[in-house]
Amino acid sequence: MKGIVLAGGHGTRLRPLTHAVSKQLLPIYNKPMVYYPLSVLMLAGIRDVLVISTPGQLELYRALLGDGKRLGMNIDYAGQPEAGGIAEALLIGAKHIGDDDVALVLGDNIFHGPSFSSVLMRHSREVDGCVLFGYPVKDPERYGVGEVDAAGQLVDIVEKPVNPRSNLAITGLYFYDNDVVDIAGELRPSARGELEITDINKVYLRRGKARLVNLGRGFAWLDTGTHDSLLQAGQYVQVLEQRQGVRIACLEEIAFRMNFIDAAACYELGLEFGSSDYGAYLRNIASPEI
Ligand code: DAU
Repeated sequence: MKGIVLAGGHGTRLRPLTHAVSKQLLPIYNKPMVYYPLSVLMLAGIRDVLVISTPGQLELYRALLGDGKRLGMNIDYAGQPEAGGIAEALLIGAKHIGDDDVALVLGDNIFHGPSFSSVLMRHSREVDGCVLFGYPVKDPERYGVGEVDAAGQLVDIVEKPVNPRSNLAITGLYFYDNDVVDIAGELRPSARGELEITDINKVYLRRGKARLVNLGRGFAWLDTGTHDSLLQAGQYVQVLEQRQGVRIACLEEIAFRMNFIDAAACYELGLEFGSSDYGAYLRNIASPEI
């Protein structure tokens, strides 16, 4: 399965923070925001990732993440000149996807919860149609909303409904089979001029091939869309990291634990970070094995 991180847009609601810098490069406590969604793809076992952002910001992403080799990955970059919609990522990424399945994640979505890697691995294996991840929220009207029947089967998806029929938001993580490239190619822009991801999901739903995984209330899916929610997301990471002594979305650690790199390589990466706590953390994780 290939991965795509969509990290474009203008972040207008976060101005002036986003005046010169892409929203998804802003810090969430001690790491850039894009680390969090990228870590989700890695936890699904994906090593081949395309990062899409506005053309003027791509150099910053490249400076941050490089070609991915140090993480045992391959990371490429592509520009999205205008915010033409989330589904446009699948057209921009068509060549990258090739004949494979694809996981698309929005660069501003933060997920954290128990056994997440096993959930991701389980659902990324042989995707037949699409897999969507739902999360109960108190303000569903801000999101794509899923309606399920008594058996928990998805029956409808509505983008930002005025009167939501459920509290289940469709999060910004989507697994698709290869049909998605053709489906994206046939989309027409919505009334707001965007290629809507919800329209793609509805095609799968009509075909009876949209599966919903409810992440449930024991899980955290955090918002970063306002100054307050951005700060709160950082505080969430700070509280957990300080309490548990482990790091959330530490890419080098995940690369090591997923066997993308070995202990010696992880230790070397720890050295790259010099005297920072981040470097010491990596060296400590790797050292029992070398
Ligand atoms: O976060 C989950 C929600 O994301 C879903 O529940 C909705 O169904 C989905 O439409 C989307 O809603 P948003 O209102 O959050 O979409 P927004 O336009 O804010 O874009 C989400 C992120 O994707 C944002 O960080 C910017 C980036 N983006 C968006 C568009 C439209 C791009 O990089 N390019 C784009 O063209």
